[in-house]
Amino acid sequence: MGAIKNRKSIAASHLNSYTDWTSAHGVPQIGRSRHYFCIGFWSIISLIGLGLLIWQTTLLILQYYSYDVAVQMSLKFDQRAFPAVTICNLNAFKKSVIYKDEKVRRLMNTYEYTMKKMACSADPKCKFETNSTMDNFQQLYHFKDLTDSAALQSRANRVLALELVGLNLSEAIVDVNDFMQGCSFDTQDCDPLHWTPFFDSIMGGCFTFNKERQNLAMRSGPTYGLRIVLKTNISEFISTSDTAGFKVYVHDQGEYPFPDVFGYNVQTGSAASLAVQYVCFFLNSF
Ligand SMILES: *[C@@H]1O[C@H](CO)[C@@H](O)[C@H](O)[C@H]1NC(C)=O
Ligand SMILES: *[C@@H]1O[C@H](CO)[C@@H](O)[C@H](O)[C@H]1NC(C)=O
Ligand SMILES: *[C@@H]1O[C@H](CO)[C@@H](O)[C@H](O)[C@H]1NC(C)=O
Repeated sequence: MGAIKNRKSIAASHLNSYTDWTSAHGVPQIGRSRHYFCIGFWSIISLIGLGLLIWQTTLLILQYYSYDVAVQMSLKFDQRAFPAVTICNLNAFKKSVIYKDEKVRRLMNTYEYTMKKMACSADPKCKFETNSTMDNFQQLYHFKDLTDSAALQSRANRVLALELVGLNLSEAIVDVNDFMQGCSFDTQDCDPLHWTPFFDSIMGGCFTFNKERQNLAMRSGPTYGLRIVLKTNISEFISTSDTAGFKVYVHDQGEYPFPDVFGYNVQTGSAASLAVQYVCFFLNSF
């Protein structure tokens, strides 16, 4: 009985001393109070304070775990560089130059022979003289198993790319003078130095305007942009080229153009207008 009393008094003295050293404001007041009324008053105040503390802490924790984002929008007005514009001739190589090569001439003759044979086989009235030499070449290029002219054309283009490996093509690709007829940017003459030539193994010679960000986008609208008049020589078209025209691709300066994959075809005898819009996203994380 005496031991329990002793333990009780130790607990009471610990509780009493807690009211002395705690940094909370309400609890020491409870310890110092001599009247039940005051003890009750400070107890209620302390409990309300504790409740508010728990409530606020819970809110904070819940807010942290909801992983909120903050969206900040700002409008900026500054001058943008005009985009880079890459233009290629749809006829990649000049007929008068690459047909000098024996293998290329043989491939093109076989391609034309296969095309004619294909067209004739669809018409029962058509008579076609087969040539055993040509049939052997058809076998060699794997043209025989094809029945569609589009498939034949793509396969011939692929074989052509292989046959051209190792040839010096600097004479076979378009020169800027037999390509560009007129050019203006922002109502001024173009500077020829703002056109950078580059070679693509499938599209041949191409030209990129504004590769080094020399020109800024001043105003919108076709008058203030880039206007070009292009020409192509139909007599130089090789059999596997689709159509007379150009490939146009508008891109960022930092992007390597793949004109055989992206871009628009513009046919000869037509005027095409391309407009682009610049959108930029900044992602901030806190
Ligand atoms: C078959 O084609 C080859 C190559 O074009 C040609 O030299 C040859 O004379 C042709 N043969 C016949 C029988 O037409
Ligand atoms: C390709 O031919 C051009 C002119 O015919 C010549 O200037 C150039 O040096 C040749 N290039 C190579 C790699 O032989
Ligand atoms: C077009 O190509 C042919 C064949 O190479 C050539 O004779 C002719 O002069 C070229 N035409 C122009 C306008 O360059």
